[in-house]
Amino acid sequence: MGTRTQDRWLEEIIQLAREGHQLLIVHGAGSLITDALARRQAQTVFIDGQRVTTPEVMEDVIREMRGTANLEVVSLCRRVGLSAVGLSGADGGFFDAAPLSLSQQLGLVGQVGTVHSALVTALWDLAMIPVVAPLAPAVGSGKILNINGDWAASGLAQQLDADVLLYYTDTGGVRMDADDAATLLTNLAESKADALIAAGRISRGMIPKVRAALAASNKGVGWVGIGSWYHPEMTTQVVGGKEM
Ligand SMILES: Nc1ncnc2c1ncn2[C@@H]1O[C@H](COP(=O)(O)OP(=O)(O)O)[C@@H](O)[C@H]1O
Ligand SMILES: [Mg+2]
Repeated sequence: MGTRTQDRWLEEIIQLAREGHQLLIVHGAGSLITDALARRQAQTVFIDGQRVTTPEVMEDVIREMRGTANLEVVSLCRRVGLSAVGLSGADGGFFDAAPLSLSQQLGLVGQVGTVHSALVTALWDLAMIPVVAPLAPAVGSGKILNINGDWAASGLAQQLDADVLLYYTDTGGVRMDADDAATLLTNLAESKADALIAAGRISRGMIPKVRAALAASNKGVGWVGIGSWYHPEMTTQVVGGKEM
């Protein structure tokens, strides 16, 4: 996000916070982690848009995700007078990580397990915004697992009974042709998503976003959208009941 985009996005968040909505922000740290790996000549490997997380990669993931990225989002909020609190799944026992069927290939990667909403409810009562770094202790072993940010947002939205789940991305949503902005789709049924993924038209980082979005929609999250960093006004429009 450039500075101007950040400011416009924050304005949306400020407006919703003023209206008393219970907001929760989930972020990733994709490019920060990839840069950190490159600095020490380690390879970045993705399978269907999810990062393969070896124990060595995990050191960078923890530092960039819970450290750099999380503090940056919290500080951004702070700069405009919003009080935000950074947390991972470990903090206040918020949520744990359950194994994934792909765990063997992906390494230290999990999915959102059980969510305990006490901490976020308390933060909302204090008019504070939880900012979530998608890392959580595995059920049983307590070992920290990396959770894809798109899947984390979906899992938390499902279990916190969210009314709205919004993803922001650089391409402004799902396109029929990833390289052609004119082919942006305004809605997407699961059968069509499956076909586009099978045909390779939805690829890389858009795969977990689409799958996680559909999972949330199927599990009762009322309005799920994938939109653009560059048009953050969708945020207040959607929450205000005016669809994009
Ligand atoms: N059909 C598609 N429509 C839009 N983007 C797509 C599509 N297929 C693949 N992509 C890729 O998905 C990327 C978004 O996912 P990702 O790189 O993980 O970003 P982030 O999760 O940070 O928003 C886009 O930059 C684009 O390169
Ligand atoms: Mg991504």
